[in-house]
Amino acid sequence: MRTTLFTGIGELVTCDASLGDGSALGILRDAALVVEGGAVAWVGRTQDAPATDEQVECAGGCVIPGFVDSHTHLVFEGERSAEFAARMAGEPYTGGGIITTVEATRAAPTDRLRVGAARRLAEMIAQGTTTVEIKSGYGLDVLEERRMLIVASELTAETTFLGAHVVPPEYASDRAGYVDLVCGEMLATCAPHARWIDVFCDAGAFDEDETRRVLTAGVAAGLLPRLHGNQLGHGPGARIAAEFRAASLDHCTYLTDKDVEVLRDAGVVATLLPGAEFGTRSPYPDARRLLDAGATVAIATDCNPGTSYVTSMPWCIALAVREMRMTPAEALHAATAGGAAALRRSDIGRLSPGAWADLAVLNAPSFTHLAYRPGSNLVARTFRCGARV
Ligand code: NIG
Ligand code: FE
Repeated sequence: MRTTLFTGIGELVTCDASLGDGSALGILRDAALVVEGGAVAWVGRTQDAPATDEQVECAGGCVIPGFVDSHTHLVFEGERSAEFAARMAGEPYTGGGIITTVEATRAAPTDRLRVGAARRLAEMIAQGTTTVEIKSGYGLDVLEERRMLIVASELTAETTFLGAHVVPPEYASDRAGYVDLVCGEMLATCAPHARWIDVFCDAGAFDEDETRRVLTAGVAAGLLPRLHGNQLGHGPGARIAAEFRAASLDHCTYLTDKDVEVLRDAGVVATLLPGAEFGTRSPYPDARRLLDAGATVAIATDCNPGTSYVTSMPWCIALAVREMRMTPAEALHAATAGGAAALRRSDIGRLSPGAWADLAVLNAPSFTHLAYRPGSNLVARTFRCGARV
């Protein structure tokens, strides 16, 4: 197999605490990395690097694991900038706008959905993202949900069935009938195209009993549970996520001390989506409390046209550092290894032997620049399995 040496790395972030400086980021300086068969085969000091077939010169830049964006709604049609403007003028976010996007998405030809999602994914890759999770949830009908998942599956293996996003207007007077549909024919039709089952468990979306019904049915169909919760107010999200051993509870804007303990003790990742707080002018989640309690934290974009039309993981890192009081190191860890944990993946989110060589070469000497220089794209080159994308 051909081997490639990434050399001249000023600062190599491995996210493997057994390497380098022994911190959670496992940092090596003046480093090199060997790729063989798409995976990391060796990391170490440049002067100790073995001979390889090819070389990639990193010119003293920092190399980080590619971002793992573990929560997106990338497949949709239309935009809701007027809603954003109204919120910036003081209107609250209610989730009601989701139906605007459902109508536009249902009306869009499949190729149009494909092109829009691919364009947003290209923006993500250009900013260092190498793995993306994509949810359905703007179809809310058996064939429309399946159509969204088929488009999502063309872009990622991390697809999530979110038929329980909100109740669509045609079921407004029959909520129970909609939950039956989600747990029955819709799940049966969508499960072959999804890895995960998700529910929006919040005021105005689905309550505790409905959430339990959908997760139970999804798990019985072979899907893995994850949950939207505690975005709009306090609620049962943490308890349900723990009960189902969900990989992640996403949003976590409103958590009690007890919720934090429950998430930590059950090993549920707390996925924070600062773009959604920015876009809805909401209070940011208390990341410090989660981190200080020892919970695993992930950061993701939540890319969607309503709350967070954001494709940039570096921008989310900058928000997490400035507004959520995470250190730059904690934020980078959450955006890489944290996202991998939220997807229950050990083959991504780190750059140590055995992991895929998914990485970003920065046009900066240190990862701290991601938060220190917000608004500039510091990602010079992105590689997946050792190949430039
Ligand atoms: O993650 N919270 C629920 N769903 C999306 C928002 C969807 C929308 O407003 O279109 C979110 O923020
Ligand atoms: Fe979301």
